[in-house]
Amino acid sequence: MRIRLFFFTLFLLSIVLSISCREGNVNRETPSLWQVYKDYFPIGAAVNPTTINTHKSLLEKHFNVVTPENQMKWEIIHPLPESYNFSEADKIVEFAIKNNMKVRGHTLVWHQQVPSWVFTNERGNFVSKDILLKRLEEHIKKVVGYYKGKVYAWDVVNEAISDNPNEFLRNVPWYRIGGEELIEKAFIWAHEADPDALLFYNDYNLEEPRKRDKAYELVKRLKEKGIPIHGVGIQGHWILGWPTPRMLEESIKKFSSLGLQVEVTEFDISIYYDRNENANFTTPPEDRIERQAQLYKEAFRVLRNYKDVVTGVIFWGVADDATWLDQWPIRGRKDHPLLFDVKHNPKKAFWEVVSF
Ligand code: GLA
Repeated sequence: MRIRLFFFTLFLLSIVLSISCREGNVNRETPSLWQVYKDYFPIGAAVNPTTINTHKSLLEKHFNVVTPENQMKWEIIHPLPESYNFSEADKIVEFAIKNNMKVRGHTLVWHQQVPSWVFTNERGNFVSKDILLKRLEEHIKKVVGYYKGKVYAWDVVNEAISDNPNEFLRNVPWYRIGGEELIEKAFIWAHEADPDALLFYNDYNLEEPRKRDKAYELVKRLKEKGIPIHGVGIQGHWILGWPTPRMLEESIKKFSSLGLQVEVTEFDISIYYDRNENANFTTPPEDRIERQAQLYKEAFRVLRNYKDVVTGVIFWGVADDATWLDQWPIRGRKDHPLLFDVKHNPKKAFWEVVSF
């Protein structure tokens, strides 16, 4: 009888074990992401006034930096010449202060989400360089001054480098009118407005050698002229097929060789191999979840190895139920680019990133 009971118990135990193994990490206690990385670098997420509520528990447990997704961009914070609207960004800053999180300011000069009045006069013509610079100075002093001491770092200039091989700066009103001097001035004014804030040049595809070299040229010139720039933000919008952690490593090496810090400012890895892949996964296939996990694992291995120069890693979102990639580049195509799934559970990628 005892022997039978023994074997029966053994049998029950093995069933329980196999179920918990199959469920993988679901039953494991989930560690706090930022705490796992506290000896390396802060971990952040882009948020908006909705997600600070809908994703509150994840944010409070796992992140110690937030970036306002849109709320500090010109079109929201300075929609009309005489009117600033800080209320949306304030909600995020208050949330961060309440939770002892740092705030990354994003962004002061960008060619998108900027109202057209910034570049034009009453007749609809482009303004002179002087006028544009004056408008920019006023904007930067006002916004950076307003958040002085509350924002630890600013993406002063976002995406100025052109993707066109024959062009250095992007052919957009900011640089058509203001040239490279506008970039220099933006950093100088941001520094005057908050001398303690760290100032970044931020861009996408900086893992790609040609774009990396162009950005390197730009920030090198700024450094040589004594312009107050402290770091380069590598956005880090990846797909399963591109780029590689090795390319990220090369970029970190190159930018840090100028004495600059590096932050990954908008990290996400799409579940698609190609931006325009003809598929739509409501539930992501296992092999893709696995590949994504391996890419995150290797990327974070690189980032940990450069912890002396990497001063932050920020995800562009919190969990897969709210990602900009559901709308871009294909509207309505579900993506799953983050460490937490649509139900806010940690994904395989999460476990790879915290296991080292
Ligand atoms: C760029 C910008 C971000 C954001 C993303 C897409 O990377 O820097 O502010 O708009 O595009 O959401």
